[in-house]
Amino acid sequence: MSEIRKVGVIGAGTMGNGIAHVFARAGFTVRLCEVEQRFLDRGLETIRKNMAREVAKDKLTQAEMDAALGRIKGTLERASLIDCDFMVEAATERFEVKRAIFSELHAILPPDVIMASNTSSISITKLAAQTGRPERVIGMHFFNPVPVMKLVEVIRGLQTSQQTYDTVKTLAEKVGKTPVEVNDAPGFVSNRVLMPLLNEAMYAVMEGVATPEAVDEVFKLGMAHPMGPLTLADFIGLDVCLDIMRVLQDGLGDPKYRPCPLLIRMVDAGWLGRKSGRGFYQYS
Ligand code: 3HC
Repeated sequence: MSEIRKVGVIGAGTMGNGIAHVFARAGFTVRLCEVEQRFLDRGLETIRKNMAREVAKDKLTQAEMDAALGRIKGTLERASLIDCDFMVEAATERFEVKRAIFSELHAILPPDVIMASNTSSISITKLAAQTGRPERVIGMHFFNPVPVMKLVEVIRGLQTSQQTYDTVKTLAEKVGKTPVEVNDAPGFVSNRVLMPLLNEAMYAVMEGVATPEAVDEVFKLGMAHPMGPLTLADFIGLDVCLDIMRVLQDGLGDPKYRPCPLLIRMVDAGWLGRKSGRGFYQYS
């Protein structure tokens, strides 16, 4: 396979714009693809703001920022990814959405191009089976905020080849991340362990064991977590937390993965955390 220089990123939301950011910062040319201009504009603006923050902290020079931004080109046409050497999808966390993207891009991209998904919980094995290149499909799970968090969980589907894994591992290192290899299973490692913690913290609040503030203080001061579990749940998005709990519940079948009823009620109310202005806390 030829050297990877141009990367297609599908989705300019929180994760997609962060992924485009780190690839562009590492010298790759990026084609950032969205479905609507306003989502693209918002994603590009976020990248600009986050890079400016890195310039202010002397992690990047102004010239490096300008060059990195110059390497990112937004598009609304998936067909324009035809000359990409690698693709990572960070679209909505719904199997049907990802299935459609993977089968469409399989028809567009040259056959040796690896297709990665930044899914946080959807089966890579099942996604790979939707394409005619299952051995070149893999999970590349970044963490929010992508420019800051060091981890990339690299998920092997049942069909993923060793060559695909090796390429993605090297790619993760090239963008300054530390890859950790895991096999495909509901929630992988990160969310299989993290989400039940957040869910249990929500049960503690629902049952009146403690306030959100008190639960968060316990974890910040007692376990040195940078954010308490309820602040983190608001940061991730309560709808995302609920979706992942449902994937764990469906995929593993154990009642211990039952989503907290308070979480379900809050999502029903549209209290999705930081992005909606209200979750366990209020945001201005
Ligand atoms: N882009 C670039 N830089 C950023 C940034 C961004 N979006 N956000 C923060 N930073 C930088 C800041 O400039 C700062 O740099 P410095 O160390 O040089 O001063 C550094 O990161 C720390 O930021 P702040 O000082 O503003 O704030 P904090 O010290 O409170 O840190 C945090 C913020 C890094 C978000 C920290 O609270 C944290 O690590 N929280 C936990 C995050 C976490 O657990 N993420 C994983 C979520 S799970 C997930 O993503 C998986 C999914 O599948 C659900």
